[in-house]
Amino acid sequence: MALITRYALLLLTAASCALHTLGLPTTDAASDNTLTWDDAYTKARSIVHRMSLEQKVGLATGMGWEKTLCVGNTYASTNPNFPSLCLQDSPLGIRFADNVTAGVSGITAAASFDKVAIRQRGEYMASEFKAKGVHFQLGPSVDIMRAPQSGRAWEGFGEDPWLSGVAGRETITGIQSQGVIATVKHYIGNSQETHRTTSSSNIDKRTLHEVWTWPYARAVEAGVGAIMCSYNLVDDTYACENDYILNTVLKNEMGFRGLVMSDWGATHSTVESANAGLDMTMPGDILMGDGFTYFGANLTKAVQDGQVSDDRVTDMALRITAAYYKMRQDEGYPDTTLNTFNRSEAPEVLVQGDHATFVREIGAAGVVLLRNQDNILPLKTSDLKKIALIGSHAGPIPQGLNGCPDQSCGRGHLAMGWGSGTADFPYLITPTDGITARAGGNLKLVHTYDDYDLDGARELAADADIAIVFAMADAGEEYIVVNGNNDRQNLSLWNNGDNLIQAVSEVNDNVIVVINAVGPVLMPWIDHENIKAVVWPGLAGQESGNSLADVLFGDVNPSGRLPYTIARNKDDYGAHISSDAELDYSEKLLVGYKWFDAKGIDPLFEFGYGLSYTNFEYSGLSARVTRKQGAGAQVIASITLSNTGDRDGAEIPQAYIAFPKSAGEPPKLLRGFQKVFLQAGEQKAIDFEFTEKELSVWDEESEMWKHSEGEFTVHIGASSRDIRASASFII
Ligand SMILES: *[C@@H]1O[C@H](CO)[C@@H](O)[C@H](O)[C@H]1NC(C)=O
Ligand SMILES: *[C@@H]1O[C@H](CO)[C@@H](O)[C@H](O)[C@H]1NC(C)=O
Ligand SMILES: *[C@@H]1O[C@H](CO)[C@@H](O)[C@H](O)[C@H]1NC(C)=O
Ligand SMILES: *[C@@H]1O[C@H](CO)[C@@H](O)[C@H](O)[C@H]1NC(C)=O
Repeated sequence: MALITRYALLLLTAASCALHTLGLPTTDAASDNTLTWDDAYTKARSIVHRMSLEQKVGLATGMGWEKTLCVGNTYASTNPNFPSLCLQDSPLGIRFADNVTAGVSGITAAASFDKVAIRQRGEYMASEFKAKGVHFQLGPSVDIMRAPQSGRAWEGFGEDPWLSGVAGRETITGIQSQGVIATVKHYIGNSQETHRTTSSSNIDKRTLHEVWTWPYARAVEAGVGAIMCSYNLVDDTYACENDYILNTVLKNEMGFRGLVMSDWGATHSTVESANAGLDMTMPGDILMGDGFTYFGANLTKAVQDGQVSDDRVTDMALRITAAYYKMRQDEGYPDTTLNTFNRSEAPEVLVQGDHATFVREIGAAGVVLLRNQDNILPLKTSDLKKIALIGSHAGPIPQGLNGCPDQSCGRGHLAMGWGSGTADFPYLITPTDGITARAGGNLKLVHTYDDYDLDGARELAADADIAIVFAMADAGEEYIVVNGNNDRQNLSLWNNGDNLIQAVSEVNDNVIVVINAVGPVLMPWIDHENIKAVVWPGLAGQESGNSLADVLFGDVNPSGRLPYTIARNKDDYGAHISSDAELDYSEKLLVGYKWFDAKGIDPLFEFGYGLSYTNFEYSGLSARVTRKQGAGAQVIASITLSNTGDRDGAEIPQAYIAFPKSAGEPPKLLRGFQKVFLQAGEQKAIDFEFTEKELSVWDEESEMWKHSEGEFTVHIGASSRDIRASASFII
């Protein structure tokens, strides 16, 4: 197993600090054990040139839904021999499999703001996919959270393209270092579930480049092997047959050399799709399970009829085989031991190693502490006699572990959303489990899991030293509807959560609220004086309760940050779910916090926000231009960070750039962050480096990136609204 041992990781973490301060894309794909694209193409050409038209088409065609071992398989070729490739969900672990790890979701990985941990997450996941003989992991998702209600936004990395770009790059690098092909998705404009297969996302070219395709450009720089086109239309043409977004932007502008596969059932034509740049149709069928296909015999005939060139099909085959050779899958790849549709027939193959330890750590790293009055946290076990745990959400899932299709229970402890972006839990540590294990024998724990018995909750909480109330908000993918939701129908807590929190706050003056949610929720009770702490652990996977307990009891000092904005009111957000057929992205560049900044709206908890049990000070910011344009402008900002509290802990300094006015950019854009661990009293100088692309805008006239000229400001702070120092520089 190539997952690095914990001891080696410590060394790696130390060694990679210098690398990670730069915030630069990893462009040297050969450094992560994969072949360069050039070398991969040399191997690809030597086999593809011996293939018939039918063999090449077979590589590009899925064998059909529920016909094979994986959620998608390509046709194998004999003489020359090339295997059937196995494609499997999901971005957080192996779907439809036993004895696998069900770790944190993308949104919680992002909340860690920890590049090293995000990369290690990719490594451990891919080590499991490989060990089960899966060639393509269908992840990561870099779908940006446009509207907070969006049903699948929890699979991705939040509302900011730069954060999504970094998290995507690290995940892909981690996955592909294990020899598994990463599939970044869903390209592009798949930002809601409502009418996702029939609506058109209409995005102007500048917004498309600066916001929506930004993470894909970073994925291409990281050498990603595959990109999945989305269900929706883009400017009235289906994404999977959209010449502009596939051929022009992805393959020509970005120089993507891997393959484009369709989302499951997202292909709508033979000739248009092939010519627009689609390289593989998945799972093969026209309508899932119908046994017909737009590729296969249809594609062969289109070539024979001269509607699709033989070169185009050769290019598809080259792209597919090159991705395989780039990840060195020809050098002895395990047989596929999944059996997606006949689970009981799969052999028992154990792949989990000690990944649970890592999941617990990244889960704790993703906990965001939103409020902590009177230093009620961390819990001081010596002063406490009795804690009340209140809410169904502290306990097990009533329908049973994995008791609902693709985790669509909507009740009990929430540790992932629902849909194809899931995996089965091998077990689930609930908050009650985690807190009980950590509390020790002298601390009495009482609990109620009834969310609707408010009197019972009051009674239980009244004489407890501390009452912890648990609540949640869930969401998921379109094909499953839970209580009327896939996109969320409201931004409120589920299962009577607000009333439960209110009721408990009436009788206990040491209330801690813990919310596991797929995204922002409204907090009508937030100003209640008895609510001393609000803890935001996201979607933490199988070790959820342990990760939470690590933070509550102070074994881990929290350093998670919000990867999205929590607003005071629903209408404060700049975009919402729409049931229109035409979705105009009229907020343009003002996605997420940029909308709040531009419109002067105060969020409740801003993007990048999160508290620690210690304090940090920032001093001595300087910014210098080390190279002028021509050779490519480059700017470095330096600052000194001190831990002035009495606990060791990590801070997440964030760098935001304000462009010259003439550039027409939002007030500020995230362009750097680091996770910096400091012992109590320690201080450290840190550099942020900004590349030319990061100081450029997409020029619609020349259709190129153009660096802006004039006075820039770099703001460095602890969140998007907690700026501690600013400095200007001129390019
Ligand atoms: C699953 O099992 C059924 C019944 O044994 C069989 O007909 C089917 O072909 C199997 N499917 C796969 C993908 O193995
Ligand atoms: C593997 O998974 C199966 C099915 O969930 C389970 O019965 C078995 O105990 C697991 N094996 C181990 C070693 O955990
Ligand atoms: C070819 O595509 C057409 C739709 O264009 C479809 O009706 C037909 O079933 C396909 N043929 C095969 C063999 O899948
Ligand atoms: C919001 O939606 C959830 C889930 O459907 C539901 O439980 C809750 O009652 C709704 N809240 C409001 C205020 O409509």
